[in-house]
Amino acid sequence: MPENIQVKLASRPVGLPTAENWTIESSPLPEVGDGQLLIQQAYVSLDPAMRSWISAARTYLPPVPIGAVMRAGAVGKVIASQHADYAVGDYVYGSTGVQQYALSDGEGLFKVQTGMVPLSNYLGVMGMTGFTAYFGMLHIGEPKEGDVVLVSGAAGAVGSIAGQIAKIKGCHVVGVAGGPEKCRYLTEELGFDAAIDYKSENLRAAVKRHCPKGIDIYFDNVGGEILDIALSRLRIGARIPLCGGISQYNATEAIQGPSNYLALISCRAKMQGFLVFDFAKDYAKAALELGMWLAQGQIKSRETIVEGIETFPDTFLRLFNGDKLGKLVLKVGAE
Ligand SMILES: NC(=O)c1ccc[n+]([C@@H]2O[C@H](COP(=O)([O-])OP(=O)(O)OC[C@H]3O[C@@H](n4cnc5c(N)ncnc54)[C@H](OP(=O)(O)O)[C@@H]3O)[C@@H](O)[C@H]2O)c1
Repeated sequence: MPENIQVKLASRPVGLPTAENWTIESSPLPEVGDGQLLIQQAYVSLDPAMRSWISAARTYLPPVPIGAVMRAGAVGKVIASQHADYAVGDYVYGSTGVQQYALSDGEGLFKVQTGMVPLSNYLGVMGMTGFTAYFGMLHIGEPKEGDVVLVSGAAGAVGSIAGQIAKIKGCHVVGVAGGPEKCRYLTEELGFDAAIDYKSENLRAAVKRHCPKGIDIYFDNVGGEILDIALSRLRIGARIPLCGGISQYNATEAIQGPSNYLALISCRAKMQGFLVFDFAKDYAKAALELGMWLAQGQIKSRETIVEGIETFPDTFLRLFNGDKLGKLVLKVGAE
């Protein structure tokens, strides 16, 4: 009989999570009751937001309880079902956690099609991070031809797609990422107009050099210093989709807020936070358009896939040390 390996939260981290914050446990597969289905998970999504879910503070979701399976999005195959809407062999996406098998009552699950794109794409470009880029850039950023767009976290899951969508809309796109390999990826593979390596360049000077007339859209994945610099270079009527602030997620002291926020007044600019879930009713539309752009080669996506559920404590840290390209995915079982 196969066993189910699960990653559970053992304690709340202070700063960066360590191995002590997790337990990895094995247990027999659960029985499938009436109205339930069992999913054999193939890929688990690793997302920066998971850091906020393991803090004690309530964000837009309640904290993951100590001792519970770590919350995460995942895709896998239905291997047993007593649920009217799901059959054995269906592939599904859901917030089903860091584990190899998930028992579900169907709540919050989506069926996904196989054969069109790799299954792992439903955690990235054809899933939550792709939708975040799509709605954040199009609905909050409102790109127009000729706009100057700055994207931070640009070689990551959201940023790489957000920048390419702005290119499709005819914008001049500058990405900010850590290291020469990521910067080359942005300009040579994804068609960004320029890339700034924030780990080796003077960020303020580089933003000024690449955006000499200022910025119309700053798509913020990072917060902290880069947000402040972007605020100091806004054009009249600029828009800032506030997507995330990863530079602050492991802070042990007060969060670094933007001191240049008065620029929003003088530039009559808009800075707006959003959650991808706000746009759930339009996911099908986003999937259609992203799928079309992918098929036509107008957007490209990369994934860093790490094998083995037991690597979770170390692999999760790669979101914060930048040791990955594109979407970070954990492979926990066969497709
Ligand atoms: N609002 C929403 O609904 C929503 C949905 C999904 C994601 N998000 C947010 O969007 C952002 C990007 O998420 P993602 O899934 O695409 O993650 P990701 O960009 O694929 O991975 C995180 C990247 O952030 C960069 N990074 C880490 N620490 C940094 C720091 N101190 N300063 C600058 N860059 C740093 C690293 O790249 P480098 O090597 O370039 O440093 C790392 O690869 C996150 O803030 C996330 O919370 C929001």
